[in-house]
Amino acid sequence: MSFPTHRLRRLRQSPAVRRLARETTLVPSQLVLPLFVREGIAEPQPIGSMPGVVQHSLDSLRRAATDAAAAGLGGVMLFGVPAVRDALGSGADDERGILNVATAAVAAEVGDALVVQTDLCLDEFTDHGHCGVLAADGSVDNDATLERYAAMGLAQARAGSAMLGLSGMMDGQVAHVRAALDAEGFTDTLLLAYSAKYAGAFYGPFREAVDSQLTGDRRTYQLDPANAREGVREAIVDAEEGADVVMVKPALPYLDVLAEVRASVDVPVWAYQVSGEYAMIEAAAAHGWIDRRGAISESLLSIRRAGADAVLSYWALEAAGWLRESL
Ligand code: PBG
Repeated sequence: MSFPTHRLRRLRQSPAVRRLARETTLVPSQLVLPLFVREGIAEPQPIGSMPGVVQHSLDSLRRAATDAAAAGLGGVMLFGVPAVRDALGSGADDERGILNVATAAVAAEVGDALVVQTDLCLDEFTDHGHCGVLAADGSVDNDATLERYAAMGLAQARAGSAMLGLSGMMDGQVAHVRAALDAEGFTDTLLLAYSAKYAGAFYGPFREAVDSQLTGDRRTYQLDPANAREGVREAIVDAEEGADVVMVKPALPYLDVLAEVRASVDVPVWAYQVSGEYAMIEAAAAHGWIDRRGAISESLLSIRRAGADAVLSYWALEAAGWLRESL
């Protein structure tokens, strides 16, 4: 009879030992809640493919932001759903545009209790649904789009956004928006670069959430799911351009990229657990095929373990409640 020399189970023997041996932690301040606000509605509207998530009215948005602050979340990320769209996405930099109006309302409501963040991208505001403006041949015009992002970024900063989420994947967007903000004195406005943002199927439910008009795809600007090195390169370039935080998105299918980005830059790295990740777990749980709380908790912890300093998640508020009991 030989005995094991290494008894790794010793560290797993009881809840107290396991708690002390835990490598990865999650606290509510590491969670950011994405919120949708739709122009011209009085009551929140459910989103079919994201059960439990709604398009907010201005009033219900304010209440949701207050709840997020009370739960100790790190921030909220606001997305606007405008009533009218056009080729240039004019609603994006209009101070009466839904996202800017909502930002001002939320900032007034929560003050400094949360980092109020805004999606800086044209896709919700354009009638063609692309993240930028189109050239005559129908392609997305990178440099013309940068001008639109600068105007949108300034409008969001003026409305009171503390952190701009650059999610459009245009080259040079971080440097361009940074320069525009600095020139107007918004030197403290933070930039969150969605650096390694992959093109793919996991944004499907989000497109319903924002009534996306997109036909076709985003493969000329978002990354090919096959490419990890290219994602790391995007993060390095964005950090050099002045991004305060870089992000990997989606999260769970790209944990390898997340770990590599974490090892390659010194700025904070966040991850976005996107709408498709949300829908998958909700759908399986609704069928009774998976333990909902267990799967959500495990996915959030895994994203942290892979290297995310903070996580954007539609479950942020609910998870913060669990964290008070312990995940
Ligand atoms: C762009 C943007 C998207 C998401 C966040 N910002 C959509 C896209 O790139 O198609 C997706 C988030 C999600 O799926 O939860 N405005």
